[in-house]
Amino acid sequence: MADQFVTVAKAADVPVGAARVVEVRGQRLALCNVNGTIYVIDDTCTHDDGPLGEGAIDGFAIECPRHGARFDVRTGAVLRMPAAYPIRSYPTRIVNGDVQINLPAGVS
Ligand code: FES
Repeated sequence: MADQFVTVAKAADVPVGAARVVEVRGQRLALCNVNGTIYVIDDTCTHDDGPLGEGAIDGFAIECPRHGARFDVRTGAVLRMPAAYPIRSYPTRIVNGDVQINLPAGVS
């Protein structure tokens, strides 16, 4: 199956400076609103499966509430240990107030 954009939430449901978690096709995603731009990453921390969507947002970073690893919400890159591996980030767009992400082929 080719990549495709799917609606995952209403943009208005993701307050500025906060994260919201949704489940799409069995995948838990964290929607992060930084100054009005929504970025979408996997909710599950690569260190020990912590719930990133429950973490605090600081600039473009989100901090895992379990052991304090930080990730860049724009790219999924690790900004601070103890995580060693990036999380997945998703191409995101807003269409008529809906948050849509491009799910890679193979995510079902
Ligand atoms: S589970 Fe996220 S830092 Fe350990």
